[in-house]
Amino acid sequence: MKTAIVYYSMSGNVKSVAEKLSVTLNADMIEIKPVKAFPDKGFGKFFWGGKSAVMGETPELEPYPFNADQYDTVIIGSPIWASSFAPPVRTFLCDNRDVLKGKKLAAFFCQSGNGADKAEKKMCALLGIDSLSASLVLIDPLTKTQAENDAKIEAFAENI
Ligand SMILES: Cc1cc2nc3c(=O)[nH]c(=O)nc-3n(C[C@H](O)[C@H](O)[C@H](O)COP(=O)(O)O)c2cc1C
Repeated sequence: MKTAIVYYSMSGNVKSVAEKLSVTLNADMIEIKPVKAFPDKGFGKFFWGGKSAVMGETPELEPYPFNADQYDTVIIGSPIWASSFAPPVRTFLCDNRDVLKGKKLAAFFCQSGNGADKAEKKMCALLGIDSLSASLVLIDPLTKTQAENDAKIEAFAENI
């Protein structure tokens, strides 16, 4: 059985972590994307994405290749938006809640400041579980010290 890394990334931070984890864990990377992309510049970037996260929206996703039967472990990767995980991740979790039951579930979050602790609780509540097998929080890893982040990513991978 294999490990899947299912992630959404607007500006590359989450993607960079997913790429490192996929090498360390020999895991499949599955990127999810909303059919209608969120604005990634200017005022709209924070307004529309933040509003969507606060409202608990589940935007339609482009088709993604995820066959749950192939995986015993699923790692979810998301940026923090308004102290929650990003709406495309909500769509994925809602659509796959049943097939994720009984699997080992872990998550990593990228944020600029804070909110990941709340997001993790919201994710567990949505999945109907008490806790994740492992979790990791990084501050904008594309612009933060590489060595420190790599050590955290390695430790997270070992905990899974
Ligand atoms: C709509 C929106 C809302 C955000 N809300 C938060 C927040 O509540 N807390 C925080 O620390 N960072 C917040 N951020 C910053 C991102 O979580 C952070 O930059 C993250 O590393 C981006 O990951 P990505 O490059 O994979 O998209 C927000 C960013 C966006 C676009």
